[in-house]
Amino acid sequence: MAILNILKYPEKSLSQPSVNVDVIDDKIKQLIKDMGETMFHDAGVGLAAPQIGINKRILVYDSHAMDPEYEEETREITALINPEIIATYGSFISEDEGCLSVVGYRANVKRFERVTVKALNIEGKKMEFDADGVLAVIMQHEIDHLDGVLFIDRLSPLKRSMYKKKRLKELKKEQ
Ligand code: NI
Repeated sequence: MAILNILKYPEKSLSQPSVNVDVIDDKIKQLIKDMGETMFHDAGVGLAAPQIGINKRILVYDSHAMDPEYEEETREITALINPEIIATYGSFISEDEGCLSVVGYRANVKRFERVTVKALNIEGKKMEFDADGVLAVIMQHEIDHLDGVLFIDRLSPLKRSMYKKKRLKELKKEQ
């Protein structure tokens, strides 16, 4: 088990599209375990491989994130390999969305209300399911990461450029 370093905007791998996983070997399984540990360590509900600098189509999420009586003890890592959104329904505003790779910023983001996701599980078994509410947002947010898209890329150009300017200024100060 290892806690990995989560990359922050504007690290390059966050804006690069990821490639499919061909073989789910022990290395990939270990990576998934480490991603899960890292996600919980940083109190996230989802994490995609590009966020730790690996441009492969893997994401993990907490499949209990949407439980109304959510407690830390019930959290559970679920991994999706080569996930795809194959159908979308409706739209709504996901309020106060944030990302472990986007420091110090949250925003309302327009998302689909419900999505159908197709993926492989950690055993390489094909699966397909519908997600709505919090889970629909996690799916869209994390699969976006696999395409090199951050939630700030889904905001108006003005809001996005304001965040980018602020972040670059802060980075300069840190140097
Ligand atoms: Ni994110």
